[in-house]
Amino acid sequence: MKKILILGHAGYIGPVVINHLKNKYYICGVDTQWFKAKINNKNYKKKYFPNKNIIKDMRNFKLKELNFLPDAIIYLAAISNDPMGHEFKKVTKEINTNYCIKIAKEAKKLGVKKFIFASSCSIYGAAGNAKKKETHKIQPLTDYAKSKVISEKKLEKISSKNFKIISLRFATAAGYSPKLRLDLVFNDFVVNSITKKEILILSNGEPWRPLIHVNDMALSIEWATEYNSKKNFLAINIGSDKWTFKIKDLASKIAKSLGKVTVKLNKDNQPDKRSYTVDFSLFKKIAKNFQPRENLKNATKVLAKNIIDSKYNFKNFRNSKKFIRLKTLKNLQERKLINKRLFWIK
Ligand SMILES: NC(=O)c1ccc[n+]([C@@H]2O[C@H](COP(=O)([O-])OP(=O)(O)OC[C@H]3O[C@@H](n4cnc5c(N)ncnc54)[C@H](O)[C@@H]3O)[C@@H](O)[C@H]2O)c1
Repeated sequence: MKKILILGHAGYIGPVVINHLKNKYYICGVDTQWFKAKINNKNYKKKYFPNKNIIKDMRNFKLKELNFLPDAIIYLAAISNDPMGHEFKKVTKEINTNYCIKIAKEAKKLGVKKFIFASSCSIYGAAGNAKKKETHKIQPLTDYAKSKVISEKKLEKISSKNFKIISLRFATAAGYSPKLRLDLVFNDFVVNSITKKEILILSNGEPWRPLIHVNDMALSIEWATEYNSKKNFLAINIGSDKWTFKIKDLASKIAKSLGKVTVKLNKDNQPDKRSYTVDFSLFKKIAKNFQPRENLKNATKVLAKNIIDSKYNFKNFRNSKKFIRLKTLKNLQERKLINKRLFWIK
């Protein structure tokens, strides 16, 4: 059985990836475990736990500590959205870029053959109206997006015939994971529909946003793990036209799926600069059997059911210290459990 190392396996996406790959691979995960909250975590250990669970900050971790050489490394660890990147600028650079490069270099030296990096479509930023292709100009707007761009550039230099790197430029994640996140547009709209029977769109609703369900992210990671790329470094957009929406249309579709939900637009708001569409044709061409499979209606219902079944009170969820990542980290800092550089304080 092939062995995989996932760095940052205990976040929003990681457990879904583990559940998807578990029957096929031996999985070892390393995670600092900042985010402990789960919903509906029955059978969590069985479904979402790696074979080997290492609770550790990767900045203190070396590959040679393992008693095996992974066939592939999946780098999910990150300060993983714009608001957190803004609040923790230095650490964002440290975790999203510096450490990523450090471990990639160590992996290459030890003879690991494949490195998969979780990048983001947000790197295209304000680069005009055209559908963004991988070859398109990149104009990241935030520290988070910039950290992904720099990592890609440095990873490209490290890649070689014997150390292939695939950078997955993911659309915005959506959908149910037991490590629920409510700082994502789709999940925010669903939980609002349930708790308030209303979706209040903060922008004018016009921005375009490509989304991808977490299950389909896991599917694309399976593809990347198996794909025999001719290129030493491959950066590829991951998502689909089917899941690319104008924010106001996304809200209407969610409202319709759940029934008796009204959608309110903030018409006075400035247009959101982060409006973009992405060209997914390369992914469609080279990963035919790994194309997104989820449909929006079903994904909405599944997430809604999990939120209701959790019996958790989500009324004031935008301030949640459990499900809004920035609030979680700030709370850990206020309680003096993690320091400025986000290391656990013993
Ligand atoms: N969620 C999205 O919309 C989205 C979209 C595109 C790309 N991505 C990327 O996919 C990856 C995974 O995203 P996610 O939503 O699961 O993020 P997440 O924030 O939920 O999880 C990241 C995990 O990394 C861990 N981590 C961070 N720093 C660490 C360190 N120094 N040592 C050990 N563990 C550490 C955290 O504890 C957390 O469990 C990230 O790289 C993110 O940038 C996410």
